[in-house]
Amino acid sequence: MLDSVASVRDFAFAARETSALPIRFEAVTFAAGPTRILHGVDVTLVPGSPTVLMGPNGCGKTTLLKLAMGLLTQIGGAITFAGGPAPAGSRAIVFQKPIMLRRTAAANVAYALRAAGKPADEANVRRLLDLAQIAPLAARPARRLSGGEQQRLALARALACEPQVLLLDEPTSSLDPASTKLVEDIIAQVSASGIKVVMATHDIGQARRLAGDVVFLAKGRLIEHAAADRFFNDPVSEEARSFLAGNLVI
Ligand SMILES: Nc1ncnc2c1ncn2[C@@H]1O[C@H](COP(=O)(O)OP(=O)(O)OP(=O)(O)O)[C@@H](O)[C@H]1O
Ligand SMILES: [Mg+2]
Repeated sequence: MLDSVASVRDFAFAARETSALPIRFEAVTFAAGPTRILHGVDVTLVPGSPTVLMGPNGCGKTTLLKLAMGLLTQIGGAITFAGGPAPAGSRAIVFQKPIMLRRTAAANVAYALRAAGKPADEANVRRLLDLAQIAPLAARPARRLSGGEQQRLALARALACEPQVLLLDEPTSSLDPASTKLVEDIIAQVSASGIKVVMATHDIGQARRLAGDVVFLAKGRLIEHAAADRFFNDPVSEEARSFLAGNLVI
């Protein structure tokens, strides 16, 4: 554990650039064909603890993450990073079910480093594998790793570009409690190193453990954006109250 903390410290640069922050969504609207998916979302994400996206299935969390990554383009409104377009290589995303290249875990990380224009030497690969606590599995075929191991490898790959913003879509949704804890520890360390984490989760316990603030969506609308303590202890909206009580199903 101490080792991995040390490696995270190495990973954090003394003066990490935050030229991609804040991330500002202004009146962001998205539709797929005739289906309106996001309705005028206004929210600003600032440096600091993770921002957690919550809300019922289909409320637009994944869509918001893909828009933030630039994988989709809004049909209305604007998304800016420190007032402009996202700097090259400043964002990385990990999906719920990451796709592994048909090669070893180490080679997956080396590939991500090369793709990011970083040296893919052994020390760099090792540093990222250590960070994701999968160094002992370096030589294993990535596709043979368990779900939890693949998720950690996906985190290592995402961090290869030294992003300022790490977007995570339900990173622990199919993991057991021990693997979930490992991934949460990595997320907490990544966040402590100065990387802005924005993650979707349905796990209320996880959101309580990790979130600095919560963005709560329902039916494609931003319902509430609040500090985590406030959101969990005293939600303002009826929708959030119902959701936290397990009653809001859409
Ligand atoms: N390409 C598409 N075409 C049509 N509808 C889409 C498309 N992509 C997403 N949607 C719809 O948009 C809504 C929001 O989807 P999204 O995946 O963002 O929700 P989510 O909050 O991530 O849900 P979940 O909690 O189930 O992951 C859903 O109703 C979904 O069916
Ligand atoms: Mg989703």
